[in-house]
Amino acid sequence: MTDMMKAVRLHEFGGPDVLLYEDAPRPKISADDVLVRVHAASINPPDLYLRDGYHALPPEWQPSPSFPLILGTDVSGKIAAVGEDVSQFEVGDEVYAMVRFPHDLMTGSNAYAEYVRVPASDLALKPVGIDHIQASAAPMSLLTAWQFLVDLGRHAPNPFQTFSHSPVPLAGKTVLVNGAGGGVGHFAVQIAKWQGAKVIAVASGKHEALLNDLRADIFVDYTKVAAETVARDVDLVFDAVGGVAMERFLPSIKPDGALFLVNPLGFSGHDEAARRKITVSTMQVRSNGAQLAEAGRLLDDGSVRVVIDSTYPLAEASAAHHRASEGSIQGKMVLVAD
Ligand SMILES: NC(=O)c1ccc[n+]([C@@H]2O[C@H](COP(=O)([O-])OP(=O)(O)OC[C@H]3O[C@@H](n4cnc5c(N)ncnc54)[C@H](OP(=O)(O)O)[C@@H]3O)[C@@H](O)[C@H]2O)c1
Repeated sequence: MTDMMKAVRLHEFGGPDVLLYEDAPRPKISADDVLVRVHAASINPPDLYLRDGYHALPPEWQPSPSFPLILGTDVSGKIAAVGEDVSQFEVGDEVYAMVRFPHDLMTGSNAYAEYVRVPASDLALKPVGIDHIQASAAPMSLLTAWQFLVDLGRHAPNPFQTFSHSPVPLAGKTVLVNGAGGGVGHFAVQIAKWQGAKVIAVASGKHEALLNDLRADIFVDYTKVAAETVARDVDLVFDAVGGVAMERFLPSIKPDGALFLVNPLGFSGHDEAARRKITVSTMQVRSNGAQLAEAGRLLDDGSVRVVIDSTYPLAEASAAHHRASEGSIQGKMVLVAD
């Protein structure tokens, strides 16, 4: 077996054109790792942020890693080798994972490659009912929706707030999902429905048919009407968009309700939220193989569907990042390694 593989690497930060498909050394594994032959790797916003050197952050927070880097956290593939302390997986198992996140946030988790090293604790068996493309599309977005809405998982420091995030019960409640057509949003809609909530899905008009298919109860096209002007007495707003004026949702939420911010940077409504008795909470998604196994049952039995926006060959990662930068993604974008 050769020591080399193909990978998408960058030798400097910049736009999509810094992504180069080239030869790279095949990763070595430690005792607690497995080596996964990657069939598919999905694209997530942190891949774009890191490719760009997190230039939106203050300079003192920006990374200064040693190049070359390999981006990507989410994979699905087949186990090619297992470390000596790994007993729960074997060579040939089909698996999926979000790899070392946020541990490798500033260096890349190396998923845009033919082979990737994955800690066994980040890994779960791929749900048999879906293919590698769908499985690779799930981990980060699905774990984000799961950890916000169902189970936070292991206690870990929260970089955004002093208290631990707590999911709230959703059965019989009204949940507004902003950004409902995107990676995190389309899973949040389905998980809230699975928990028995009534869901108001907010997205641009191109996602209306999909969100009806995913059983959203009400669809709001934010390009035609501002969601906060029509939504009233909502128990939970799950904002999977972020950016400007997230506090505009507060008047739509009941007292004792909650606003969950997936991208909290720039939120300035804490005083108003306290006056209205609304809990504002966020958290950072963390790798968790046990949760992927649990949530994977919903992918297997069809309770939750993985929606694919588009696929690109791994060799065309640069073109895929051009498309991703345009936004308005429906579900997930995936790089296919073979
Ligand atoms: N806290 C965490 O650990 C965590 C984890 C994962 C992701 N995130 C963050 O969460 C955000 C979403 O991630 P993602 O993977 O879901 O991204 P994504 O797949 O790009 O989805 C974003 C969606 O938002 C929609 N959108 C854009 N502007 C909007 C607006 N003004 N109102 C309503 N919808 C709008 C877009 O489509 P349309 O405009 O066509 O509707 C798109 O479908 C990113 O900022 C990401 O960094 C945070």
